[in-house]
Amino acid sequence: MKHILHIDTSPRSARSISRSLTEEFIRIWKQVHPGDAITYRDLGHYIVPPIDEAWIAAAFSRTETLPQELEAALKISDELIDEFLAADLYILGVPMYNYSIPANFKAYIDQIVRVRRTFIIGQDGYEGLVKGKKMLIVTTRGGKYSNGTLDFQEPYLKAIFELIGITDITFIHAENLSMGIQEGQQSIAAAHAAIHQFVAKYC
Ligand SMILES: Cc1cc2nc3c(=O)[nH]c(=O)nc-3n(C[C@H](O)[C@H](O)[C@H](O)COP(=O)(O)O)c2cc1C
Repeated sequence: MKHILHIDTSPRSARSISRSLTEEFIRIWKQVHPGDAITYRDLGHYIVPPIDEAWIAAAFSRTETLPQELEAALKISDELIDEFLAADLYILGVPMYNYSIPANFKAYIDQIVRVRRTFIIGQDGYEGLVKGKKMLIVTTRGGKYSNGTLDFQEPYLKAIFELIGITDITFIHAENLSMGIQEGQQSIAAAHAAIHQFVAKYC
């Protein structure tokens, strides 16, 4: 039995294309794996706080026992990391915002990329602690970035999740969504097909 963590990051609701694509993934996944556990986190509507000075002091503290106020500063981070580590498959819906990711998703990443919890700094540099996991990231974009130019989204997400140990990452991009109805619809249809292929391959 797998444990899936489904994360949406668009602040839009019914109009969100990334939400509709991750929802499609969950719908067909459940048909094939009805017994799997699915945890849902909606970062688009329930914003996690940005890290602050107390968080940084607590996360990088070298003492075993933290004073109460520093321990409290890591409470949300601890909860998010526990939830993240409990999953073995991640499905993420991520709009491209200003060539990158929405700020609310960046705030989440800052909370879960934490020394001694999701990575360590060893003799050879950073070592990820989140091993043996699989991740599917479905992005939505108004334009098209297939030649890589100005795409700071995929390279960033790949780098940051690899840093914590997740190396098996698949991207599906729904692009051209602001470039006319036909272009957008073609890209959404291709993303749907790719999601179906991913589920079929992973079974
Ligand atoms: C604030 C904002 C910034 C955006 N920046 C970009 C961008 O840099 N490149 C791009 O291709 N599309 C950009 N878009 C378009 C979105 O990526 C596109 O509308 C996408 O469908 C949003 O995802 P959603 O439908 O799940 O909400 C931007 C949209 C918004 C609202």
